[in-house]
Amino acid sequence: MVKICCLGAGYVGGPTMAVIALKCPSIEVVVVDISQPRIAAWNSDTLPIYEPGLDEIVKECRGRNLFFSTDLEKHVSEADIIFVSVNTPTKTRGLGAGKAADLTYWESAARMIADVSKSDKIVVEKSTVPVKTAEAIEKILMHNSKGINFQILSNPEFLAEGTAIKDLFNPDRVLIGGRETPAGQKAIQALSDVYAHWVPQDRIIATNLWSAELSKLAANAFLAQRISSVNAMSALCEATGADVAEVAHAVGKDTRIGPKFLNASVGFGGSCFQKDILNLVYICECNGLPEVANYWKQVIKINDYQKNRFVNRVVSSMFNTVSGKKIAILGFAFKKDTGDTRETPAIDVCKGLLGDKARISIYDPQVTEEQIQRDLSLNKFEWDHPVHLQPMSPTTVKQASVVWDAYSATKDAHGICILTEWDEFKNLDFQKIFDNMQKPAFVFDGRNIVDAEKLREIGFIVYSIGKPLDSWLKDMPAVA
Ligand code: NAD
Ligand code: UDX
Repeated sequence: MVKICCLGAGYVGGPTMAVIALKCPSIEVVVVDISQPRIAAWNSDTLPIYEPGLDEIVKECRGRNLFFSTDLEKHVSEADIIFVSVNTPTKTRGLGAGKAADLTYWESAARMIADVSKSDKIVVEKSTVPVKTAEAIEKILMHNSKGINFQILSNPEFLAEGTAIKDLFNPDRVLIGGRETPAGQKAIQALSDVYAHWVPQDRIIATNLWSAELSKLAANAFLAQRISSVNAMSALCEATGADVAEVAHAVGKDTRIGPKFLNASVGFGGSCFQKDILNLVYICECNGLPEVANYWKQVIKINDYQKNRFVNRVVSSMFNTVSGKKIAILGFAFKKDTGDTRETPAIDVCKGLLGDKARISIYDPQVTEEQIQRDLSLNKFEWDHPVHLQPMSPTTVKQASVVWDAYSATKDAHGICILTEWDEFKNLDFQKIFDNMQKPAFVFDGRNIVDAEKLREIGFIVYSIGKPLDSWLKDMPAVA
């Protein structure tokens, strides 16, 4: 029986290994993590992450050929293939702080693999890493190998949260990079045999190591760039009376461009886009390519601009002050169908409104109060460090309360900000909400999910990203 061990039981390690276990009953898969609470949660009825379809798969495979453990050394030493899916956060201090990837967790994983291994291993980079990381990992493994042969592969993960199981069942491609040597090619074949249990052969792409590593950063940069492009257009739409949805539809009809990923929003969030683009920018700078670095940096700048613009729109619409006013925040996760809040635009919007002394009342169907308070207290880039290593936030933000339904959040509020596109927000009883709000009552739709015309008929003043403005909003000072 082939044995797989995965280091890192997070959003990538957990679902990816669960799907491998489901599709490959002949393979034993053990997911290990240094976080004891995380592993305990994977072994319980309440999994540590919310992902549609995941519970069922874990229930079916756990105890059969899928296991979760904190005994890293035992399972690493027994495995034939080791996936490394640990955090690769942005460095918060020292050389490259605020841009470069912090490979501390990766390096400690590699050193542990070298220490405990007694047989040949294939080590797979599943985490997103800077180009040439495989070379550094190879050095650590080889210098400590005691004669054991390690083959390093790059097999970046392309799943998106909220649709992880669907993406893993039916990936657009599986990318495997390896050394162009007979041993490297043999390792690529061994990993492709695992995926071939359910992925058609023509979707399994083999490349050299550096192409695979760079393709992951490039794919995320291209995706984020589309969102920044449409968000940049949304600002121009508001200034000119064009409708960003109509523009995106017309642009996306060009088959060379395509219709997906052109939804204007309050800004992109998630653990990957910003971190990976900053990493790309740093790599370009280190390689003496400042023009290329600046090009990609602009994608982040527009995203920050979009979040600021949204906050400014809220404040300027409400007579240029939200001091003491209750603002309801509907949705805190970075997208629907996940409880993940990493780099969610809601953090920046809430901090912006709190900076203007608003009182905010937050409702999200999947995010806990503890998580929200923690997010509002942490500094930039601090979130991506294993939870048990991070001190709990000592303070709670008093002007921010967290409630468990949209009606309590909006009661007596002056305005509503919709920051996540949860389906349930489309079907709220907005007449009831309007009746219980202060007047004039505002809705700022950061995801363009509500029917603005219907809300206007009820009496709301409505702002939708990139859509023609209400006369009220037009009369307010320009937003930059
Ligand atoms: P995560 O924080 O959810 O999980 C990482 C886990 O690794 C944590 O549970 C942590 O305790 C554990 N860990 C850290 N050091 C360890 C060690 N030495 N040994 C064992 N476990 C260790 O992170 P994630 O979202 O799963 O992301 C992991 C990697 O995958 C990152 O590089 C990320 O960029 C990449 N990625 C993420 C996504 C996504 O959607 N989240 C998609 C594609 C790629
Ligand atoms: C992303 C990549 O899509 C995935 O391939 C990679 O493996 C990890 O990073 P993820 O961050 O989970 O996945 O979600 P994604 O669907 O890409 O959304 C990212 C952010 O962009 C979200 O905040 C989302 O709301 C926003 N977005 C997405 C838009 O604002 N407009 C769009 O048209 C699409």
